[in-house]
Amino acid sequence: MGKALDGVRILDFTHVQSGPTCTQLLAWFGADVIKVERAGAGDITREQLRDIPDVDSLYFTMLNHNKRSITIDTKNPEGKLVLEALIQKCDVLVENFAPGALDRMGFTWERIQELNPRMIVASVKGFGPGPYEDCKVYENVAQCAGGAASTTGFDDGPPVVTGAQIGDSGTGLHLALGIVTALYQRTQTGRGQRVLAAMQDGVLNLCRVKLRDQQRLDRTGTMKEYPQYPNGSFGEAVPRAGNASGGGQPGWILKCKGWETDPNAYIYFITQAPVWAKICNVIGKEEWATDPDYATPAARLPHLKEIFAEIERWTMTKTKFEAMQILNKYDIPCGPILSMKEIAEEPSLRKTGTIVEVDHPTRGKYLTVGNPIKLSDSPTDVKRSPLLGEHTDEVMAELGYSPQQISALRTAGAI
Ligand code: COA
Repeated sequence: MGKALDGVRILDFTHVQSGPTCTQLLAWFGADVIKVERAGAGDITREQLRDIPDVDSLYFTMLNHNKRSITIDTKNPEGKLVLEALIQKCDVLVENFAPGALDRMGFTWERIQELNPRMIVASVKGFGPGPYEDCKVYENVAQCAGGAASTTGFDDGPPVVTGAQIGDSGTGLHLALGIVTALYQRTQTGRGQRVLAAMQDGVLNLCRVKLRDQQRLDRTGTMKEYPQYPNGSFGEAVPRAGNASGGGQPGWILKCKGWETDPNAYIYFITQAPVWAKICNVIGKEEWATDPDYATPAARLPHLKEIFAEIERWTMTKTKFEAMQILNKYDIPCGPILSMKEIAEEPSLRKTGTIVEVDHPTRGKYLTVGNPIKLSDSPTDVKRSPLLGEHTDEVMAELGYSPQQISALRTAGAI
């Protein structure tokens, strides 16, 4: 079976996490992704957080599947010519260098357009135009500047960053959507365009419910589903809400059997209004189903802490999986707090290809996430990440270079 992006050639000038997640997705959808790296060094993540000496790290391998790797010194005049040849041959150039780096290399938007007017140039930057546009940015900076950190954590503690890499992988996802959209528009216009996904914007897009809450707070001075209500106080900005649900159905994380020794013996419990009577039955508080202080969602808001404490008395008598089984029988929305160990061992995730075991020539077998987006006509086969420069000769030959020319360029340090 063919792949959705068969025939699309991506010049992958990305490094670290945000850009590589984007190009990995495009590769999973079938694009030919040619990753350009510096000879001898390559993407810095190849050597970061290594668990096996002299072997590409999991950080690198898990972000660069299904790609080819070519080494080019893009500051060397002859190396630049190779890059120019690639620009002429490819459909999309994706980069996430620090602001201005591509221009300093001599590859401005104007120059790229001269070389290939159909080229789409897609960039991740930390910030869009404005006071911080020249700043270098990593994941947690974006989480802080995009509103996630100030709204994550508990009211009595400092801002907290989340383990979900919403700044890097989240922005990579945004950029991938921008690229396929630009490719689609190109079928009408015949022209390339620039695509920018700023990490601050991507994080804010994912935090939109907190911007919603800022405006609710400005208008009413309170938010009744927040743990600060009714006994605490609200300031001017959206406070950290602990584990409160970001939606209209109150929720919280509750202890389950074994919580004293297992840090993940917890369940997320949602007191969804349509199943309130069933919740009351399950936890043995049948009277709450009709008691005017508890019977309606509005009446329950001032009592949420007490309600969750009562539900927790019940969840503490069950393991998270037992609780899950019982609650699901009654369509009560809930979810176990799964550890990474439990997720890695979960057979259903292996079956769907969401977690995949990959074999690597120097590392051996390892686990990685597969494509989270499943297309029925474009299945994803996860292939190992390339070794540094593994495809240099192959790609150079496709560009028309002879073996003698390739060897001369290598001797000159251009590739
Ligand atoms: N040949 C020659 N030079 C190369 C090269 C190649 N193949 N590939 C990269 N370089 C050069 C660049 O031209 C740049 O040189 P310059 O500073 O002289 O212009 C240099 O390598 C370093 O690039 P830079 O992007 O500044 O890397 P860094 O390691 O200092 O910074 C980031 C890393 C992530 C902070 C920065 O790239 C950044 O802010 N990117 C945008 C936001 C982003 O994506 N952040 C998330 C990363 S997960």
